[in-house]
Amino acid sequence: MCGIVGYIGPQEAVPILLTGLHRMEYRGYDSAGLCSVSNGQLIISKRAGRVADLEKVLEPNEHSVKLGIGHTRWATHGLPNDVNAHPHTDASGRIALVHNGIIENYLAIRKQLENAGLQCKSDTDSEVLAVFIGMLYDKLGDLELAVQTALQEVDGTFGLVVVSTVDPDLLIAARRGSPLILGIGKDEYIVASDASAIISHTRQVIYLAENEMAVVRRSGYTTKTIANVATHSEIEEIAFELSQIERGGFAHFMLKEIHEQPSTFHDGYRGRLNIEDGKVRLGGLSKMQDRIREAKRIIITACGTSWHAALVGEYLIEQLARIPVEVEYASEFRYRDPIVNPDDVVIAISQSGETADTLAAVREARRKGATVLGMVNVVGSTIARETDAGVYLHAGPEIGVASTKAFTSQLCVLTQFAMYVGQMHGMSPELSRTIAQHIDALPGQIQEILDRADEMRTIAKQYARSTNALYLGRGVHFPVALEGALKLKEISYVHAEGYPAAEMKHGPIALIDENMPVVFIATKEELYDKVLSGIEEVRARRGKVIAIATEGDEHIKTVADHVFTIPSTLSILSPVLASIPLQLLAYYVAVERGCNVDMPRNLAKSVTVE
Ligand code: AGP
Ligand code: GLU
Repeated sequence: MCGIVGYIGPQEAVPILLTGLHRMEYRGYDSAGLCSVSNGQLIISKRAGRVADLEKVLEPNEHSVKLGIGHTRWATHGLPNDVNAHPHTDASGRIALVHNGIIENYLAIRKQLENAGLQCKSDTDSEVLAVFIGMLYDKLGDLELAVQTALQEVDGTFGLVVVSTVDPDLLIAARRGSPLILGIGKDEYIVASDASAIISHTRQVIYLAENEMAVVRRSGYTTKTIANVATHSEIEEIAFELSQIERGGFAHFMLKEIHEQPSTFHDGYRGRLNIEDGKVRLGGLSKMQDRIREAKRIIITACGTSWHAALVGEYLIEQLARIPVEVEYASEFRYRDPIVNPDDVVIAISQSGETADTLAAVREARRKGATVLGMVNVVGSTIARETDAGVYLHAGPEIGVASTKAFTSQLCVLTQFAMYVGQMHGMSPELSRTIAQHIDALPGQIQEILDRADEMRTIAKQYARSTNALYLGRGVHFPVALEGALKLKEISYVHAEGYPAAEMKHGPIALIDENMPVVFIATKEELYDKVLSGIEEVRARRGKVIAIATEGDEHIKTVADHVFTIPSTLSILSPVLASIPLQLLAYYVAVERGCNVDMPRNLAKSVTVE
């Protein structure tokens, strides 16, 4: 689920593999390993911990290495220790494999192997596959066929790369449910689970499709399905620049990405929204236009931060298009035999485009005949490819594990989608124009907030030792509260919960004492007075109030302990602005607590397993 890289070509493989592993570190991992094929030998170094730790224990090798594989593991089966780290080999030690994903029937396969007298050394599902391939190779005498035959037997998900000493001019890559990209350089190939490990070599890539494998030699490559049907995958171009995946002077990727939001938000509506007349043109949806117009209901499905964006989307679409919207956790949707009709439109929102639960929800919705749209950031990702149509977020690569700029870009795209559908159903041109003008003011307003980041740092310092926090908001700000709480939890490990402000009195109020910071989104909108009552209730119990308020609100300063103001905008757009100070709050609290902001413990950037 984390990082795979493989190299075959004329250059020294090990430095290329290590750079690739470093580039994928942001995805979160617990162990790292390398295997190089050298002079008829597999040289394997692997260990729990960081890639930097692996570098210290690399097996020495006096021969030059032109073929190898590397892995960063995010353990699913077996502890993150040296033995369980990848690469794994077959019983004879001639075939090595790195694997992302889960082999679901690994116990049954292991039994089969044990019956044949073959033992595994680790607790992983991945090693079982390596040993299985080795057993099949002994029977079939052909590595390609052995891999293919093994993969036909396997249930579950995999992105994998296999190398061996039996054919040192061969690298085999295959995928199902876990991304894998083949980079095509000049007389060299680099295969990786993430374009960031490829881009410094080549921009020309093939995104392997589901159940597709690539058989790569120095002289060229072929692709085919695991069932042995030849495929002709198109060569595409990586759409981002190397500089976009570098920290560029910021202390963390997360901070860099927070600060990119004026431009990433703008990129989300540039060329789509006409500011003069407010008309929205979403080219990616044009072929599904009629189905969208006729939709009786819209279901949005997503996980985590993307699910929070979906909740804002529900509000926006219902307001502007008056079509009922339901928001579903993808992980729940996929398993509860959801009622989905052919005239429903299902939208999957995902930064990575690889989240296993969201992908499964997409497949379930398609199976049931709905029109399925994607709102995805990563170009060429599986969800982008498996949906009927979609709108890219254009936020650029998001490296920080905690999603920030992708969230505001999701709000940007959702707002335009709501307008797009609204305009199909007779939304007034005046309203369209007003919203468009306010959208166009947002990048500048986001910048104004970012220019005052230090104010939030000062507040964060005072609460960095708190062990709990509550985030409260009403209406469209309830999801913003949820997102604020998630950010804090993810990177600072402080327990935080988001609630609709009015729900506080139904339970969470019991938690409030002088040690409890309560973050209110208290902007001057419809329910402002009601939110103020909530603030009073917290004050009455000596809770500490941090208010996100509208510029010029003097009253709030008299009731809150801390006020961070944001510029005034339409209430439907206000979540974009309100979420920025909450990102900053989480960031500065985490830094103050000495946490590894870009690689928070236990988290992975994209969750490609269940
Ligand atoms: C966000 O900060 C999280 N790391 C996580 O909740 C994430 O939003 C979720 O896993 C969904 O990812 P996706 O958008 O790539 O599908
Ligand atoms: N399931 C495998 C393991 O636990 C692969 C994990 C991964 O995707 O990194 O080793």
